[in-house]
Amino acid sequence: MIQVTKPFLPPIEEYESYIRQIWSRNWLTNNGPLLIQLEQQLKEFLNVKYLSMMTNGTITLQAILKTLGRKGDIITTPFSYIATTSVILWEGFTPVYVDIDPDTFNADPDKGEQLINDNTVAILITHCFGVPCDVEKWNAISKKYNIPVIYDAAHAFGVKLNGESILIHGYASSLSFHATKLFHTIEGGALVTHTAELNHEINLRRNFGHDGPDRFSSVGINGKNSEMHAAMGLVNLNHIKSILESRKMQYEGYLTLLNQAKSKIQFQKIPTGVTYNYSYFPILLSSEEALLKLFNDLVKHDIFPRRYFYPSLNSLSFTSEFHGDTPISKDISSRVLCLPLFHDMTNSEQELISGIILKALSTE
Ligand SMILES: Cc1ncc(COP(=O)(O)O)c(C=O)c1O
Repeated sequence: MIQVTKPFLPPIEEYESYIRQIWSRNWLTNNGPLLIQLEQQLKEFLNVKYLSMMTNGTITLQAILKTLGRKGDIITTPFSYIATTSVILWEGFTPVYVDIDPDTFNADPDKGEQLINDNTVAILITHCFGVPCDVEKWNAISKKYNIPVIYDAAHAFGVKLNGESILIHGYASSLSFHATKLFHTIEGGALVTHTAELNHEINLRRNFGHDGPDRFSSVGINGKNSEMHAAMGLVNLNHIKSILESRKMQYEGYLTLLNQAKSKIQFQKIPTGVTYNYSYFPILLSSEEALLKLFNDLVKHDIFPRRYFYPSLNSLSFTSEFHGDTPISKDISSRVLCLPLFHDMTNSEQELISGIILKALSTE
């Protein structure tokens, strides 16, 4: 069986050595030494100044929305994972959906600007599959209207634009370290911010708002992460270079193997200047019918790609009431398929998958 993804597991002895430290210290959570060490190493690896590790990516987004000060509309992408929309609703904001660019699959800034009005309190958009949003345009919009842009960078670990971390942009960026991500802490996430004040506020809010044993600064949540999770992160960070290299090879392998079907499938555009992390390999089929046929062919061979992202987030029973004219997102959602991609995928697995795709497309 070949799944769409597979968690990276380091050699168990490497994890064990950290677990022994935890046992000898008897310090399991609450900003322990391994968590502090991981935050430090992540800041260095990602080249960012402020980073707060939390329980998962979803909680980091909820925490940053809590800092906005007033409720209202949040302009957001319909082409993302459900978490991007659910945090908006969970925190009592109203999503306003902006359509996406048909090549990068990211929220379109020109259309986004047209949606801004007095009720707009923030913009929350995703670096889709790790491919950067048009940060230059979004930054200009943010400045012009004085509206913070929050980036859901769940897929964008290690991505750079013009040699700089993509995480330096916007009001904040949220990372997910879920087990299926290319860098993971089993469950986990981190929020990258850009001022000492905002970083301090997030660190208080992730710990119930504690500002001392019996003082509380503001409403908080339990967003802390544990020493066990931090240990997994520290071990995995030692392997990140080889994980990124093998994913690059596999990504390029797909491009070569599927090259002859280029007229029938579309690949996601990676703009110039981007150092990509090869986190996903989405293909766009010519129609939903072609997608379903291919999906079934792959499943018959015990290969499980994923319709990701599907459906468009503004087509759900609890979101369809919200504003958003997004034909491109609806169309792309119906035709997109993410192919299996993981650190130790073999050439023969990739050849098998590509062979089935080529055969399915040859009858189109
Ligand atoms: C785009 C996007 N945003 C947010 C999340 C939520 O991250 P987490 O699972 O760490 O809560 C995910 C998780 O897959 C995601 O893909």
